[in-house]
Amino acid sequence: MANIKIRNTGERIEGYQNVSKFLEDQGVLYEHWDTSKLPAQLQENCKINDEQKEQVLSVFEEEIKSLAGRNGYHKWDVVALSEATPNLEELLKKFEQVHVHTEDEVRAITAGNGIFVIKGSEELGYFDVELEAGDVISVPVDTPHFFTLREDRQVVAVRLFIDPSGWVAHPVQDPQFTGSN
Ligand SMILES: [Fe+2]
Repeated sequence: MANIKIRNTGERIEGYQNVSKFLEDQGVLYEHWDTSKLPAQLQENCKINDEQKEQVLSVFEEEIKSLAGRNGYHKWDVVALSEATPNLEELLKKFEQVHVHTEDEVRAITAGNGIFVIKGSEELGYFDVELEAGDVISVPVDTPHFFTLREDRQVVAVRLFIDPSGWVAHPVQDPQFTGSN
């Protein structure tokens, strides 16, 4: 389950109910999928091929269609990052810049881990959402954020889009943001 770290105070929020309430108050959708539904060879496996990515989509078809139906997403795919990804370090550097999108950024982690750093209310500032397999999050449109990996440096995530061609990162220069880690 996800945990929260508030950057300004170092405060941590843990436990599904507390995390859900915190994220709801910040306007961030948070759900949980049952990753034990995945076949054994896909559980905690982040070095997957295209065929296995399709398998992930088919295992979670019902959850994807439910989320898409509620929020108007029309396309979905699977992204996998690990030490097998060429230029992983360069990619991560590119990710770790505060930006916004013109649509929600929806990610369902199906293996590995990830962190979304998101700008909350003015008084709260930035907070980290530490995600593990099963965590599903939607960063709302126009909300400054970035994504990075945790120590294991690997993740598999389902991405849902209204229109993938509109899903472009627009960098934000935010004086409130004081560092990537
Ligand atoms: Fe983003």
